[in-house]
Amino acid sequence: MTDSQDSDPSRAAAAVSEARQWDRLMQLAKLGAIPGDGVNRPCLSSLDREARRLVIAWAEQAGAAVSIDAAANLFLRREGTDPSLAPVLSGSHMDSQPEGGRFDGIYGVIAGLEAITALNDAGITTRHPIEVVAWTNEEGGRFAPGCMGSMAWSGHAPLTSWSHVADQAGITFAAALAEHLACEADLPHRPLGGTPHAYLEAHIEQGPLLEAAGRDIGVVTGIQGSRWFSVTLIGASAHAGTAPVGLRRDAVQDMVRALNALNTLMHDPDDTLRFTVARIDVTPNTSNSVAGRARFTIDLRHPDAAILHAKGDAIAATVHAAIRHCEAVIEEHFTADPISFHPVVVEAVADAAAAEGLTAQRLPSGAFHDAQFVVPLAPTGMIFVPSKDGISHNPAEYSSPGQLAAGTRVLARSLVALAR
Ligand code: GLV
Ligand code: MN
Ligand code: MN
Repeated sequence: MTDSQDSDPSRAAAAVSEARQWDRLMQLAKLGAIPGDGVNRPCLSSLDREARRLVIAWAEQAGAAVSIDAAANLFLRREGTDPSLAPVLSGSHMDSQPEGGRFDGIYGVIAGLEAITALNDAGITTRHPIEVVAWTNEEGGRFAPGCMGSMAWSGHAPLTSWSHVADQAGITFAAALAEHLACEADLPHRPLGGTPHAYLEAHIEQGPLLEAAGRDIGVVTGIQGSRWFSVTLIGASAHAGTAPVGLRRDAVQDMVRALNALNTLMHDPDDTLRFTVARIDVTPNTSNSVAGRARFTIDLRHPDAAILHAKGDAIAATVHAAIRHCEAVIEEHFTADPISFHPVVVEAVADAAAAEGLTAQRLPSGAFHDAQFVVPLAPTGMIFVPSKDGISHNPAEYSSPGQLAAGTRVLARSLVALAR
């Protein structure tokens, strides 16, 4: 084999198997399957462990070296001709939303695995090692916030910041992580953190733009910023039949006042700002007791850091001004500023799509991703494939086998270019 053959990106792309990748995704979709073709695979659950074991078996078949870190981030390493060089890192997450789809996250892990398998099959060598990563708890569905694995790995926040966070059954993140690591004790451990040569994450778009434009590939330019808050309103529970309304400290009524005021604060005539209240916990949560406590979450997103900061910083005062009877505790749990991806990776993706004869569009991501926490450490970028009807965080989420394979061909080409 000549030098040019063993580093020819087009041979890497040609070796990507649409059928193998789809079959693996469908095998993984059975782990946590819910009605309507959806998936509920909470992070660090036994289903997550089963899914990881499948991926580990496939990685070992591909000759990859498997390791795990203190955040249970899982790494699958394909060696480079110079093992002393920093790896090119590629991956995503394996946990799902509680009522999620078959592709959000897991596609990026399986695409990375498919890419290194294709490189093997094509006899491609790279100077830099390539590592596929499955980050722990990107979704934040079981333990909020999301992106704990990548935030801890990148030094954005210490792993212990979330030790006390509990799921709905009262199990803490620290306990679930310890249990998971004990179950995975046979895997070699690696230190938390690293400085990759580059990072590239493949993901479904989760929005409607690529499909509407009839494009095959999204060349992702950056990610809008996000802030997560919780608002807890503390009143007093009382008998629904006997407590005069004027004497109540009703947490649900104050929650309605707070939400109305927040909707006014967050109103954006351009419809760029994203303001979501989607989880509400009321205590004691019974029809004939006045609510003594109400807690709701806020997910706020905007591509402009100044607006994100100004609106987020105004939440506490807006809630305090709106409520009448309760005490309010407002906490921020997640802050991710808007980021731009690195031109080297963005252009590698654009060039790879063009070389594959695919139509591409540059676009920012509305969803957050583990990639944004790698940005301070290494040139970073993402590849999107179209999502049917733009649907995601929903069992109906769908991208076709061909669309997913096209994304993986672009990934394989880009990885060869970056790891050369
Ligand atoms: C990721 O799942 C997000 O909520 O953007
Ligand atoms: Mn995702
Ligand atoms: Mn998601």
